[in-house]
Amino acid sequence: MALVTVMGRLLAPVRLREYCRRTVAAVAPGSWLTGLRGFTSGTRPLRSDNKVTINFINRDGEKVTVKGSPGDSLLDVVINEDLDFDGFGACEGTLACSTCHLIFDEDVYKNLGPVTDEELDMLDLAYGLSDTSRLGCQVCLTKSLEGMVARVPESVADIRQSKDESG
Ligand code: FES
Repeated sequence: MALVTVMGRLLAPVRLREYCRRTVAAVAPGSWLTGLRGFTSGTRPLRSDNKVTINFINRDGEKVTVKGSPGDSLLDVVINEDLDFDGFGACEGTLACSTCHLIFDEDVYKNLGPVTDEELDMLDLAYGLSDTSRLGCQVCLTKSLEGMVARVPESVADIRQSKDESG
Protein backbone atom coordinates (compact mmCIF):
# COMPACT_ATOMS: atom_id res chain seq x y z
CA MET A 1 0.00 0.00 0.00
CA ALA A 2 2.77 2.39 1.02
CA LEU A 3 4.66 1.51 -2.15
CA VAL A 4 1.58 2.36 -4.25
CA THR A 5 1.24 5.75 -2.51
CA VAL A 6 4.91 6.61 -2.99
CA MET A 7 4.81 5.56 -6.63
CA GLY A 8 1.62 7.60 -7.12
CA ARG A 9 3.29 10.72 -5.74
CA LEU A 10 6.32 10.23 -7.97
CA LEU A 11 4.28 9.60 -11.07
CA ALA A 12 1.70 12.36 -10.57
CA PRO A 13 4.01 15.24 -11.58
CA VAL A 14 5.22 13.22 -14.55
CA ARG A 15 1.66 12.61 -15.69
CA LEU A 16 0.76 16.29 -15.19
CA ARG A 17 3.81 17.40 -17.18
CA GLU A 18 2.96 14.95 -19.95
CA TYR A 19 -0.68 16.10 -19.92
CA CYS A 20 0.34 19.76 -20.24
CA ARG A 21 2.83 18.95 -23.01
CA ARG A 22 0.20 17.06 -24.99
CA THR A 23 -2.47 19.69 -24.42
CA VAL A 24 -0.22 22.56 -25.44
CA ALA A 25 1.01 20.64 -28.45
CA ALA A 26 -2.60 20.07 -29.45
CA VAL A 27 -3.36 23.80 -29.17
CA ALA A 28 -0.30 24.96 -31.05
CA PRO A 29 1.67 22.27 -32.83
CA GLY A 30 5.38 22.85 -32.85
CA SER A 31 7.86 23.43 -30.10
CA TRP A 32 7.10 23.40 -26.41
CA LEU A 33 7.68 27.15 -26.16
CA THR A 34 5.51 27.95 -29.12
CA GLY A 35 2.75 25.94 -27.49
CA LEU A 36 3.09 27.85 -24.24
CA ARG A 37 2.83 31.13 -26.07
CA GLY A 38 -0.44 29.90 -27.55
CA PHE A 39 -1.85 29.68 -24.03
CA THR A 40 -0.59 33.07 -22.95
CA SER A 41 -1.56 34.93 -26.12
CA GLY A 42 2.13 35.64 -26.68
CA THR A 43 1.77 34.75 -30.34
CA ARG A 44 -0.85 37.45 -30.91
CA PRO A 45 0.44 40.52 -32.71
CA LEU A 46 1.14 43.67 -30.79
CA ARG A 47 -1.79 46.06 -30.41
CA SER A 48 -0.38 48.45 -33.02
CA ASP A 49 -0.30 45.57 -35.53
CA ASN A 50 -3.94 44.90 -34.78
CA LYS A 51 -5.02 48.22 -36.28
CA VAL A 52 -7.07 48.53 -39.42
CA THR A 53 -5.87 50.77 -42.26
CA ILE A 54 -8.49 53.07 -43.78
CA ASN A 55 -8.04 55.16 -46.89
CA PHE A 56 -10.36 58.15 -46.87
CA ILE A 57 -10.81 60.11 -50.09
CA ASN A 58 -11.59 63.63 -48.98
CA ARG A 59 -13.75 66.20 -50.75
CA ASP A 60 -10.76 67.41 -52.77
CA GLY A 61 -10.11 63.88 -54.04
CA GLU A 62 -7.00 63.45 -51.90
CA LYS A 63 -6.28 60.14 -50.22
CA VAL A 64 -5.79 60.28 -46.46
CA THR A 65 -4.54 57.02 -44.94
CA VAL A 66 -5.03 56.44 -41.23
CA LYS A 67 -5.39 53.54 -38.82
CA GLY A 68 -8.16 52.68 -36.40
CA SER A 69 -8.83 49.99 -33.85
CA PRO A 70 -11.28 47.16 -34.46
CA GLY A 71 -14.58 48.14 -32.86
CA ASP A 72 -14.12 51.85 -33.48
CA SER A 73 -16.64 53.52 -35.76
CA LEU A 74 -15.41 55.46 -38.77
CA LEU A 75 -16.56 58.60 -36.97
CA ASP A 76 -14.29 57.63 -34.06
CA VAL A 77 -11.41 57.30 -36.52
CA VAL A 78 -12.08 60.72 -38.07
CA ILE A 79 -12.16 62.30 -34.60
CA ASN A 80 -9.17 60.38 -33.19
CA GLU A 81 -7.04 61.15 -36.24
CA ASP A 82 -8.21 64.79 -36.25
CA LEU A 83 -9.22 64.58 -39.91
CA ASP A 84 -10.52 67.84 -41.32
CA PHE A 85 -13.67 66.84 -43.21
CA ASP A 86 -15.75 69.99 -42.98
CA GLY A 87 -19.02 69.40 -41.10
CA PHE A 88 -18.39 65.66 -40.66
CA GLY A 89 -20.08 64.05 -37.68
CA ALA A 90 -22.06 67.09 -36.56
CA CYS A 91 -24.42 65.15 -34.28
CA GLU A 92 -21.55 63.13 -32.76
CA GLY A 93 -22.99 59.79 -33.80
CA THR A 94 -26.54 60.20 -32.49
CA LEU A 95 -28.10 59.47 -35.91
CA ALA A 96 -29.49 62.98 -36.24
CA CYS A 97 -27.56 64.61 -39.09
CA SER A 98 -26.21 62.38 -41.93
CA THR A 99 -23.07 64.55 -42.15
CA CYS A 100 -20.99 61.40 -41.62
CA HIS A 101 -22.18 60.04 -44.98
CA LEU A 102 -19.49 57.94 -46.69
CA ILE A 103 -19.48 56.06 -49.97
CA PHE A 104 -17.76 52.68 -50.33
CA ASP A 105 -16.71 50.31 -53.07
CA GLU A 106 -19.26 47.56 -53.51
CA ASP A 107 -17.06 44.75 -52.15
CA VAL A 108 -16.34 46.77 -49.02
CA TYR A 109 -19.98 47.79 -48.63
CA LYS A 110 -21.00 44.12 -48.44
CA ASN A 111 -18.68 43.63 -45.44
CA LEU A 112 -19.84 46.62 -43.42
CA GLY A 113 -22.42 44.83 -41.32
CA PRO A 114 -26.17 45.34 -41.02
CA VAL A 115 -27.96 48.65 -41.61
CA THR A 116 -30.68 49.69 -39.18
CA ASP A 117 -33.94 51.35 -40.22
CA GLU A 118 -32.85 54.48 -38.31
CA GLU A 119 -29.67 54.69 -40.35
CA LEU A 120 -31.58 54.20 -43.61
CA ASP A 121 -34.01 56.97 -42.64
CA MET A 122 -31.11 59.34 -42.03
CA LEU A 123 -29.26 58.21 -45.16
CA ASP A 124 -32.28 59.21 -47.25
CA LEU A 125 -31.49 62.80 -46.30
CA ALA A 126 -27.81 62.59 -47.24
CA TYR A 127 -26.34 64.55 -50.13
CA GLY A 128 -25.18 62.43 -53.08
CA LEU A 129 -26.70 59.19 -51.82
CA SER A 130 -25.48 56.06 -53.63
CA ASP A 131 -26.24 52.34 -53.47
CA THR A 132 -23.12 51.86 -51.38
CA SER A 133 -23.63 54.73 -48.93
CA ARG A 134 -23.43 54.32 -45.16
CA LEU A 135 -23.20 56.61 -42.18
CA GLY A 136 -19.68 56.58 -40.79
CA CYS A 137 -20.90 56.71 -37.21
CA GLN A 138 -22.69 53.39 -37.74
CA VAL A 139 -19.84 51.49 -39.39
CA CYS A 140 -17.52 49.66 -37.02
CA LEU A 141 -14.05 48.55 -38.00
CA THR A 142 -13.13 44.91 -38.29
CA LYS A 143 -9.89 43.36 -39.49
CA SER A 144 -11.69 42.22 -42.65
CA LEU A 145 -11.95 45.89 -43.64
CA GLU A 146 -8.16 46.30 -43.77
CA GLY A 147 -7.20 48.72 -46.55
CA MET A 148 -10.76 49.85 -47.21
CA VAL A 149 -11.52 53.02 -49.14
CA ALA A 150 -14.18 55.43 -47.83
CA ARG A 151 -15.13 58.42 -49.98
CA VAL A 152 -16.35 61.60 -48.34
CA PRO A 153 -19.10 63.07 -50.57
CA GLU A 154 -18.53 66.46 -52.17
CA SER A 155 -21.03 68.11 -49.90
CA VAL A 156 -22.99 67.47 -46.74
CA ALA A 157 -26.65 67.80 -45.93
CA ASP A 158 -27.33 68.41 -42.25
CA ILE A 159 -31.05 68.04 -41.63
CA ARG A 160 -30.64 69.90 -38.33
CA GLN A 161 -29.38 73.05 -40.10
CA SER A 162 -32.29 73.16 -42.54
CA LYS A 163 -34.66 72.79 -39.57
CA ASP A 164 -32.82 75.62 -37.75
CA GLU A 165 -32.88 77.89 -40.80
CA SER A 166 -36.60 77.35 -41.46
CA GLY A 167 -37.56 77.81 -37.80
S1 FES B 1 -22.66 61.75 -37.04
FE1 FES B 1 -24.72 62.40 -37.31
S2 FES B 1 -25.63 60.67 -38.20
FE2 FES B 1 -23.57 60.05 -38.00
